[in-house]
Amino acid sequence: MIEVLVADITTLQVDAIVNAANRSLLGGGGVDGAIHRVAGPELLKACRALHGCATGEARVTPAFRLPARWVIHTVGPVWHGGQQREAQLLENCYRNSLELALENNAETIAFPAISTGVYGYPKKQAVAIACGLMQEYAPRFKSIVACCFSEEDAVLYRQAIGGDI
Ligand code: APR
Repeated sequence: MIEVLVADITTLQVDAIVNAANRSLLGGGGVDGAIHRVAGPELLKACRALHGCATGEARVTPAFRLPARWVIHTVGPVWHGGQQREAQLLENCYRNSLELALENNAETIAFPAISTGVYGYPKKQAVAIACGLMQEYAPRFKSIVACCFSEEDAVLYRQAIGGDI
């Protein structure tokens, strides 16, 4: 099942939440900053041990003080106009995160709108990619949550899942 919520992803009691990280995995602003703030210092320690992550790849850590069990850190592409494999790299983020969640027996997973904040990915295009992968993997999860940070984003996800986009 795919659910569209407007929420702070750090509050969700799902098996895995996905973090829109950067290649250092050492924290940042946006959802990355929120996840590290709530998870506590052990998360940064666990991330240091991973020695970074390439764009499009995903890494898993425990969630420590977060209500979730796992944090799956993925690094979205920075938008440079669409001619630098951004769409493929964003698709890789969703696919690699979903595969990693399955490897860790996660039955429920929540995604933020990867790359659509600081990284500037156009929302409609990013949402179409995200929803395509969520629909492809939906049969293998109890629930996949699109965790939006605004009602505006939630409308885009609902349209995409409803097939309007
Ligand atoms: N819960 C859910 N979604 C959130 C939250 C939150 N607490 N905070 C922000 N968001 C949303 C943003 O509104 C946006 O829709 O997450 C989406 C992704 O935005 P960013 O967090 O800016 O991530 P991204 O665009 O992928 O840029 C990644 O930003 O924070 C740094 O370290 C990070 O360098 C990396 C870059």
